[in-house]
Amino acid sequence: MLHDQWLVLLALLGCSLAQNNTGNHNFQYVDPLIGSYNGGNVFAGASLPFGMAKAVADVSGQNTAGWSYDYSNVTGFSALHDSGTGGQPSMGNFPISVQPECAHDSVNGCTFGTKYGRAVNYRNGSIKAHPGYFSLGLVNGVDAEMTVTEHTALYNFHFGPNVSSPLFLLDLTDLQDSRQNATIEVNPDTGRIKGNGTFLPSFGVGSYQSYFCADFKGASIRDTGIWVNERGGTDQKHLFVNRGYSLFYIQAGGFVRFRKPSNGTIQARMGESFLSTDQACQNAEQEIPHWNFNKVKTDAETAWKQRLDGIVVQPGGVCDAMQKTFFTGIYRTMLSPQNYSGENPLWQSSEPYFDSFYCIWDSFRTTFPFLTISQPDALAQMVRSLIDTYTHLGWLPDCRMQFCKGYSQGGSNADVVIGDAYVKNLSGIDWNQAYRAVVNDAENEPFDWGVNGRGGLQSWKRLGYIPVNDYDYLGFGPAFHSVSRSLEYAYNDFCIAEMARGLGHHTDYERYLSRSANWRNLYKPNQTSFYPNGTSTGNFTGFFQPRNLNGTWGFQSPFACSPLDTIFCSYSSNPTETFESSIWEYQFYVPQDQATLIRTLGGPAAFISRLDYLHESGLLDIGNEPSELTCFQYHYAGRPGLSSARLRTYIPSHFNSSVNGLPGNDDSGASGSFLAFAMSGLFPVAGQNVYLIIPPYFESVSYVHPITGKTATIRNVNFKAGDPDRIYVQSARLDGKSYSRSWVTHEFFTGGGTLELVLGDEEGDWGTGEGDLPPSLGAGRNYHPYSDS
Ligand SMILES: *[C@@H]1O[C@H](CO)[C@@H](O)[C@H](O)[C@H]1NC(C)=O
Ligand SMILES: *[C@@H]1O[C@H](CO)[C@@H](O)[C@H](O)[C@H]1NC(C)=O
Ligand SMILES: *[C@@H]1O[C@H](CO)[C@@H](O)[C@H](O)[C@H]1NC(C)=O
Ligand SMILES: *[C@@H]1O[C@H](CO)[C@@H](O)[C@H](O)[C@H]1NC(C)=O
Ligand SMILES: *[C@@H]1O[C@H](CO)[C@@H](O)[C@H](O)[C@H]1NC(C)=O
Ligand SMILES: *[C@@H]1O[C@H](CO)[C@@H](O)[C@H](O)[C@H]1NC(C)=O
Ligand SMILES: *[C@@H]1O[C@H](CO)[C@@H](O)[C@H](O)[C@H]1NC(C)=O
Ligand SMILES: *[C@@H]1O[C@H](CO)[C@@H](O)[C@H](O)[C@H]1NC(C)=O
Ligand SMILES: *[C@@H]1O[C@H](CO)[C@@H](O)[C@H](O)[C@H]1NC(C)=O
Ligand SMILES: *[C@@H]1O[C@H](CO)[C@@H](O)[C@H](O)[C@H]1NC(C)=O
Ligand SMILES: *[C@@H]1O[C@H](CO)[C@@H](O)[C@H](O)[C@H]1NC(C)=O
Ligand SMILES: *[C@@H]1O[C@H](CO)[C@@H](O)[C@H](O)[C@H]1NC(C)=O
Repeated sequence: MLHDQWLVLLALLGCSLAQNNTGNHNFQYVDPLIGSYNGGNVFAGASLPFGMAKAVADVSGQNTAGWSYDYSNVTGFSALHDSGTGGQPSMGNFPISVQPECAHDSVNGCTFGTKYGRAVNYRNGSIKAHPGYFSLGLVNGVDAEMTVTEHTALYNFHFGPNVSSPLFLLDLTDLQDSRQNATIEVNPDTGRIKGNGTFLPSFGVGSYQSYFCADFKGASIRDTGIWVNERGGTDQKHLFVNRGYSLFYIQAGGFVRFRKPSNGTIQARMGESFLSTDQACQNAEQEIPHWNFNKVKTDAETAWKQRLDGIVVQPGGVCDAMQKTFFTGIYRTMLSPQNYSGENPLWQSSEPYFDSFYCIWDSFRTTFPFLTISQPDALAQMVRSLIDTYTHLGWLPDCRMQFCKGYSQGGSNADVVIGDAYVKNLSGIDWNQAYRAVVNDAENEPFDWGVNGRGGLQSWKRLGYIPVNDYDYLGFGPAFHSVSRSLEYAYNDFCIAEMARGLGHHTDYERYLSRSANWRNLYKPNQTSFYPNGTSTGNFTGFFQPRNLNGTWGFQSPFACSPLDTIFCSYSSNPTETFESSIWEYQFYVPQDQATLIRTLGGPAAFISRLDYLHESGLLDIGNEPSELTCFQYHYAGRPGLSSARLRTYIPSHFNSSVNGLPGNDDSGASGSFLAFAMSGLFPVAGQNVYLIIPPYFESVSYVHPITGKTATIRNVNFKAGDPDRIYVQSARLDGKSYSRSWVTHEFFTGGGTLELVLGDEEGDWGTGEGDLPPSLGAGRNYHPYSDS
């Protein structure tokens, strides 16, 4: 795929029509470059599904995931990355850079120094990317292609006919220049370069060690050596560097100069490990003993085709570009978390180890639920990894990367991931240990609750909310976000209650169920909301508000931290009582009890006008995860047609197949999975056995369950794509029988079935009756209707 221009226009205007789409063809629709510009921060390079090795060209511009489509210069090629994250750029350890020649044909004429000083632009139009493969051409005449196995990258560097003595330089650094110390060793006979280094995680505490082993093939060695700052030499083959002194960051590494390559190509094989240098060499030798680039590439493609198989789209006249958007969103759910099983230096275990939960606050809502349907084997391994992390470190993570604890952003939302897997009955998980892990979050406050568990638990248990300026001597963390933390803790407790119920812990069930109602304690019935100019934000009364330790109310403007505000309220900048979003948006975050929330806000009509105002005023941030539920929340007020209409305003305007086709960071597939669900006509209420239904974006979408082999199809009847689309469900049939509920359970996917949605041009009656609404505590409806469905 060539990407010469910003493709947003192509995506929106150029509409080629698709054939019916099955199995392996899904692969053709993946474009790893989608979301690689303008803050999507997706990893655009070569990876296996959940693979550790992730090879790409790193750039000098927005390089959070190594590469971005911002026409900045290539600083090197490295093979460890994350995808879609915010924070500092992640990893990018030990980049290789290639110079076709050194000035005066001398080591003194090679360019060492900083990676920015050596950076080279790439030729426009030279970029090619598909799953498992990435390539580009540098303006210095070097063309680079790369592919990967689990822990090893294989590069082909192609040189022009005039190349005489190319230099391969290895840099003992990472993307964020966080190296603390490092060692390198160059073998003058074989050209093997190996070493290790200590680096810092990109959004967390502590440090981690990374190890590499680079081999080369295709030309004979001319000379080898090490380099420090601007100078290199051939007499030394070994080097140790540390943090340097004062403010200077030591630039250093090793190099190999080759003679003219026999056929114009020099290959580099980069083994990675988090255990040892020997393990890095062993990974490389075992995974790529043959140096056969095409074989590695084909194997990687096959791995992706298998993982993308089982989802069948019948486009019904919808543009190809939208299938690209869809399948690429799905692809991105399989980049991170990454499978580091067998590479964990921290503890010995036969359980899987996954890393780069980055962060669960983003991904609990749709990423893990999507994997529950599409990759249940991988999801079960991730959940086991979370539980094993609790077993060995004492806590479940919210954010975890590079074997380090990351910063928690809100509640202990791993409780939702585990609760979701529990209510969907995933196999192979030790539920008793899982239950101990989530109860630990709910009952015990860690000293460092900024990186695990919850803060303010004494107040939570005693007062039923997290107060502003809490008195908390037990543990320490970012002592703000009291409103958003309270709402998330309440939902976390609900998920624990559901597990307690299923596991027969009746007293716990009552306790956590009661705590799940704590959101009510922050509702201030007479609170109003205004823009800074004094105009009311829609004349609504009643909002969540911060509350003091003594029970009196604090104040945070419900408008504050919205996209219309002048400040963005992130983790550390502008800390307020809500994290990354406004009270206006958090007002809707009560997934456990929408019925009571709706009553509290004045009934269904008032609730709907409030939701409409949120979506239409600019107060909603569609680029961040708390907005996701609000797109579908009309279901709970008996107006599922409005959820459908709402989604059609965001897809494709904010989610499309262009390089800037994402409204915010992809956050390890959080946006990708939200999009894939919405286009499939579904939204998972994570932590509950509930999928809300809207008409799919295509004529039909089918999921073949990888374990049971059963097929679940959601099919539109009377489908009409175009302007306007036909988007309102009039009636539905499940396996031929009339189906009036606006939601289905996970058994639809495990057991298979055909859900037919008969569409019309206006909102219909479907899903509007009291008994059709999705489950809610306090609705007077059985909260567990699926146990009898
Ligand atoms: C696509 O599938 C539908 C339904 O199975 C069928 O009617 C149609 O002919 C197919 N179109 C193509 C181009 O294969
Ligand atoms: C890329 O490098 C060129 C020269 O090599 C330089 O002029 C240009 O400013 C660099 N671009 C960026 C975005 O750094
Ligand atoms: C590639 O195109 C971009 C945007 O048009 C331009 O800024 C950049 O300089 C071009 N790069 C090269 C190497 O020509
Ligand atoms: C390669 O060498 C030939 C002959 O010396 C010269 O004409 C040509 O311009 C060179 N090409 C490059 C890309 O340097
Ligand atoms: C390297 O840095 C780490 C982290 O600062 C430190 O623990 C370790 O002792 C250092 N190693 C050496 C050999 O200096
Ligand atoms: C890195 O490699 C050097 C040289 O082999 C070794 O002395 C050192 O212990 C290694 N450091 C770590 C953290 O493994
Ligand atoms: C060129 O050499 C490389 C490295 O030895 C080898 O892998 C590749 O197959 C060769 N390519 C051709 C076209 O002969
Ligand atoms: C993760 O890696 C382990 C060890 O290589 C392997 O057994 C397991 O199947 C992998 N899991 C996935 C989901 O690929
Ligand atoms: C809002 O209610 C609180 C008590 O809940 C009361 O103290 C306050 O005066 C009320 N504010 C207005 C403007 O009525
Ligand atoms: C106040 O600001 C809001 C939001 O920008 C705007 O919609 C409204 O028209 C403004 N009101 C006045 C009186 O300027
Ligand atoms: C809010 O109420 C005022 C006064 O009654 C009215 O002028 C205004 O139009 C209302 N605004 C909205 C958005 O309903
Ligand atoms: C309650 O606490 C708030 C915040 O510390 C303080 O401003 C207020 O005076 C207190 N009110 C009472 C009645 O103690």
